[in-house]
Amino acid sequence: MAQAELDLIAQEVKTCTKCKLYKSARQGVPGEGPANAEILFIGEGPGFYEDQQGRPFVGASGKFLEELLASIGLKREDVFIANVVKHRPPGNRDPEPDEIKACSGYLDRQIAALQPKVIVTLGRHSMARYFPGAKVSSIHGQARVVDGRLVVAMFHPAAALHQESLRQTVIADFKKLPGYIARAKGQGSPAAPSAVPKLAPPEEPEGPKQLSLF
Ligand code: URA
Repeated sequence: MAQAELDLIAQEVKTCTKCKLYKSARQGVPGEGPANAEILFIGEGPGFYEDQQGRPFVGASGKFLEELLASIGLKREDVFIANVVKHRPPGNRDPEPDEIKACSGYLDRQIAALQPKVIVTLGRHSMARYFPGAKVSSIHGQARVVDGRLVVAMFHPAAALHQESLRQTVIADFKKLPGYIARAKGQGSPAAPSAVPKLAPPEEPEGPKQLSLF
């Protein structure tokens, strides 16, 4: 059932013309992972290699993501990996608000099909879905219960590749994931205030376009 819906979404993404991104991209990149994945990672959008291969996180960011997963005993095959936009923005520019909006239904349906226990947002664009107005630099590593599901905000792996000082931060944030996963699976209480670090209030009422990566 979940697999059938995920397959259907993938098919639709491949022929999607809901926004302009399909015109410059080689192909749609729906995302991948097992239909019973308990963890969903949401990145920003396909880059050059993802666009070539039709698979998410297969370039340098993907290699680092795989290392991060390995550091907590997971393989990429254990988790579902998707993006906010399914076609590569030209020149790897940021996805624009109308593109994110046009594509959001696919992510909504992927989440509905997967029913993941934990969602990890990678970078500011996926973070903005759940933590509007927040800055990654303020809330990275923190979790919030949204619609009964634990959502954890993380820096995008590419940020750590571009800024060496962030590398250890990202590694440390990933180390918190097994605890969050255990809580979300009922071996703790995700809703308990002590289980989930309190979020700092948004620093300024910004729209997704204005949020800075760091
Ligand atoms: N960066 C992303 O956000 N997504 C990918 O799929 C690859 C790199």
